[in-house]
Parts: sequence; structure tokens; C-alpha cells
Amino acid sequence: MPSVYIKTYGCQMNERDSEAVAAQLVAKGYTLAASEFEADVVLLNTCSVRDHAEQKAIHKMENLTASIRKHRPEVVFGFMGCMAQSRGQALIDRLPDVDLVVGTQKFHHTADYLDELLQGRRKKIVDTGTEPGSEATVKEHLLNGTAKHKSVTAFVSIMQGCNQYCTYCIVPYTRGEERSRSIPDLVAECRQLVMQGVREITLLGQIVTSYGKRFKAQSAPAMGQVVAPGFDPHSDKSAFVQLIEAVHAIEGLERIRFTSPHPKGYGDDLVAAYGRLPKLVESAHLPVQSGSDRVLKLMHRGYTRERFLEIVRKLRAVRPGMGLTTDIIVGFPGETEEDFAATVSLCREVEFDNAFLFKYSPRQDTPAATMPDSLPQEVIEERHGRLLEVVNQIGKRKYEALIGSEMQILVEGPSRRNAARMMGRTPCNKLVLFDGSPRHRGQLLPVRIVRTGNFTLYGDPAIVGL
Ligand code: 5AD
Ligand code: SF4
Repeated sequence: MPSVYIKTYGCQMNERDSEAVAAQLVAKGYTLAASEFEADVVLLNTCSVRDHAEQKAIHKMENLTASIRKHRPEVVFGFMGCMAQSRGQALIDRLPDVDLVVGTQKFHHTADYLDELLQGRRKKIVDTGTEPGSEATVKEHLLNGTAKHKSVTAFVSIMQGCNQYCTYCIVPYTRGEERSRSIPDLVAECRQLVMQGVREITLLGQIVTSYGKRFKAQSAPAMGQVVAPGFDPHSDKSAFVQLIEAVHAIEGLERIRFTSPHPKGYGDDLVAAYGRLPKLVESAHLPVQSGSDRVLKLMHRGYTRERFLEIVRKLRAVRPGMGLTTDIIVGFPGETEEDFAATVSLCREVEFDNAFLFKYSPRQDTPAATMPDSLPQEVIEERHGRLLEVVNQIGKRKYEALIGSEMQILVEGPSRRNAARMMGRTPCNKLVLFDGSPRHRGQLLPVRIVRTGNFTLYGDPAIVGL
């Protein structure tokens, strides 16, 4: 059987989609190649969120086709994911060596399309259509398929798409309308993962706080049958909180996380869930994007700076150790020095454990791309540098404040950088390295934090009783 290599760009959704495609291919008998140079099929799963991500994937494909096709003309090259969705046939027009373009609602057809290409039945395939029910097709996990050891953590895709239409964002166009999976379907997937040894599950979606909101309109006809959502739309608890409760009830599961919520949908029921549900560990990635009300409005975010701060206060009141991270866009069109100062002051006020900073990148067909007063690149770079310094300083302080404390970590396996060390995560989602042994994998261990590195903690091996 042929071998496949998948390279992934972008967010955790893409990682998850790649994993599901890989698992589907493995189930059909494909093997996973160790590198793109040994593979019979090379797929790039792409990101469109910023221009830089698109250019990287295009250059990679140019280089790959140029170096591999010469010696191995039979290798199949394909694009998947967001850029595949937004550019479609144009990718083949530009890169004629590409054989396959699979959009974001068509991942599950990849295996069939590869069969057709490998058997020479078709020369090129582009499929970027919409497909009812596609939200429920990213189900398969690799877990033990290739890894020598069992996975301790897993991602579960609970919904696809986004209807928020932030003015800078291409996601609603590349991922489509919000479509949620049913609670029974999701619980079955999570249960299966736990049976295979998974201890921590991260519920994934572009905007998980909108989970279930458009359920009937999207999923029921999609599956060709009536699908029970498994939640009560009239409850005072949101569908998302009901989903968390259902996953929480799974025996053997130790930890639940989710990403990304939207501040607009961050109701008191979700804050209260952190107080009630012990498996919902104390970390929250809460994208703020800007600290200026004026910019938030231009971005169509649907909340104010004060509302965001209120959510943070409420979360910290329920779980004082809450690890908080965020996303921020620097240099949105029309961002003044005063707007930027508001973002800096918000970072100082909240004291995020970490913040992911993005330089604004105009995306085709988004409203912001044609807004007036776009900023010169050097202004964006300069503000980005200034904010990065603030964010890093605060992060460093927050990490250092943990020195001496004892924290429970879930041990995931050997450190990626240094296999002699083990690594785990605290409930507040901080990476901890310690001198453990492989038998600790999958265990919840108390460790004492002894020092910090760059957004990393080091645990004292004496505490784990080695
Ligand atoms: N330019 C820069 N950053 C962007 N993001 C989304 N769209 C853009 C864009 N056009 C950022 C947001 C989002 C993160 C995943 O990417 O901060 O939360
Ligand atoms: Fe994009 Fe906004 Fe939807 Fe997030 S909420 S995916 S930033 S449109």
C-alpha cells in the first residue's frame, strides 16, 4: 500500500483534521511515511488566517514538487484545508504539479480521491463544495496507530464553522456556517478515547461558545435522518455547558479543556461550570483581539473591554489559579496609538499567562481588507515588538510566581526536545519538565516547581518519589 505524509499548518483544528485524515488512510491500509521525501502521497493541510501562512504552504509545495517530481513522477501532491477551500482550482493553475485540492468539508473523501488518482482513473481532483453532515466526519483518531505509546491527551472536534464574521477573519468563508455535532455522538467518541487510555480531552471548535446554537437547521437534514441533539435548547444552561456536563460524566476521564470560546458567548453558566465541575481544569484561552472599544467595534467582536474584564474577574473569582491566555491582533486598520495603548493597558491589567500576538494581515473579501487607514508595516512591526515585550515580561513574572508551589501534572510522555526528561501539564495548562520515567505516563502526579524556562516550568523529581 502507498505511504502518505501530511504536513500541517495553522491551528489545532487543522492538527485534528490531519490526524483524522491520517487515521482514515491508515484504516484503508496506507502507511505513514517518516518524511515527505519517502512518501507516495504528500498532503499539505493549509491555513488561511494570515497571508504568511498561505505563502509558507505555497512555497513548501513549490519546493517539494520541484525536488521530488524529477526522480519520482508518480508521487501524488495535494492541498487540504482552509487555503484549499478558499483558492480551489487556482492552486492547480498556479502549481500544475498539484493533483488534489480538498476543501474543509471534504476531508473524509481524501482516501477515495487518492485511490482514483493513484490508479490513474483521474488526473486532477478539486472538491471544495459544501457537504451536509461534514461536521461529524472528523472522528477518527490515530492514538495508538503509529505512536509506540498510548496518547494521554486528545482533541475532539465538536463543531465546524463560525457565524460571527469578525471583520478581519477569513474563517467563516473557509470553514462555513456553524454546524455542531450531537452530544450522544460526541460522548461516544470521548468514551472510546478514554477506553483507549486518554485522560484529558480538549473540545475543539472555532467558536465553541456557539456550540449547538444552529443545531436543527444544520445537522438534522444533513445526516439524512433526524438527529437528536442530546441537549435541551430551553434549559438555562447553554448547549455547550450541557455538553461539558455529559463529557464530565465519563468515568476514567480526568481532565476537560476547550478552545476557543468567544467572550460574547461566555455566559455565567460557563463560569459557574468551572466551579461545579472538577474535571474542567483551570485554564481558559479567551481571545480578546484588542483592548480598545473603538477597535473592538470595528472588528465586530460584540463585547467591550469592560465586559471582557468582567469575565476575567468572574473566572478568577471561581478559580483563582486560572491560567489565562489570549489572542491579540496588532495593527488593525485605523488603530491609533491611543487604541494600541488601551491594548497594552488591558494586558497589564489582566496579566495573561501568555498572549499570542498577530500582526494584522488583510484577507481577501473580508470587510476589514477595504477599511481606510491601513497602517504602514513598520508601525505594525514596532507595536508588535513593544507589546511582545510587555506580554513576555508579564508571562515571565507569572511563571516565576509558581516557583515553590506544588502542582498536579498529567504526565503526557517524554519531552519532545529531550527524551530523557518527562513532560506533563498543570491544570492551568503550563508545561512542566521533570526527571521522571516512562512509567509515569498517563499519571496525575504532584510535583514541586523549582525553576522556570521560557514559558516552561521545571518540577522537582524528589517530589514524585523516584
Ligand atoms: N490578521 C491577523 N491575525 C488574524 N487572526 C485572525 N484573522 C487575522 C488576520 N486577518 C488571529 C486572531 C485569531 C487568531 C487565531 O488569529 O487573533 O484569534
Ligand atoms: Fe474568526 Fe471571529 Fe469566528 Fe473567531 S469568532 S473564527 S475570529 S470570525
